[in-house]
Amino acid sequence: MTSRVPALDLVSHSPDQTRQVASTLARLLRGGDVLFLQGPLGSGKTTFVQGLARGLGVREYVQSPTFILVMEHRGVLADGTPVRLYHVDLYRLEEQDELTTFGLEDCLSDPSGIVVIEWSERLPAQWVDEYLVVRFEPLADTKRRIAFFPFGTRPRAIVEALRKEVAGGAKRPAAPGA
Ligand SMILES: Nc1ncnc2c1ncn2[C@@H]1O[C@H](COP(=O)(O)OP(=O)(O)OP(=O)(O)O)[C@@H](O)[C@H]1O
Ligand SMILES: [Mg+2]
Repeated sequence: MTSRVPALDLVSHSPDQTRQVASTLARLLRGGDVLFLQGPLGSGKTTFVQGLARGLGVREYVQSPTFILVMEHRGVLADGTPVRLYHVDLYRLEEQDELTTFGLEDCLSDPSGIVVIEWSERLPAQWVDEYLVVRFEPLADTKRRIAFFPFGTRPRAIVEALRKEVAGGAKRPAAPGA
């Protein structure tokens, strides 16, 4: 799925730079948007969600949901509209049935919810129509490649807007390219 050329390809040199990219992205999101975070253990997915939360003004500390598969945080969009950030981690998903039990459908159908899913590889493809895949690749100790692959019109628009933001000189949160 992600073997094609990414629409945006960044390199982050620190956890905080990863949070900064995510925070910039968060300001471009609205209810109904869905992000799929992919990449190996410890590659920066949860760190990225911390940045999303920061960008949405979420007050509490974000860590991976452990015994439950979803954590819900309250935040606000760039225009001040209240939003829920649903942080889903499917690493511990054992059976597809669990997706229904923990209420993923409800999260996905909340018009004022942003859904971000770690280990989305475990989600059957037909669950979501349009989504933005963010793929993390460890390059060195504190260096991560962060590649964006939009699937759908809205995700493409989000990445295009993010591309303009990160190209914006002083505001640049990470160097483009590898
Ligand atoms: N540039 C970077 N971006 C993000 N994290 C980094 C970076 N450099 C180092 N790190 C470190 O890598 C680790 C990433 O952990 P994180 O929990 O975000 O990974 P994850 O992809 O969510 O893993 P898991 O699959 O276990 O949920 C953290 O300890 C973080 O401090
Ligand atoms: Mg994680």
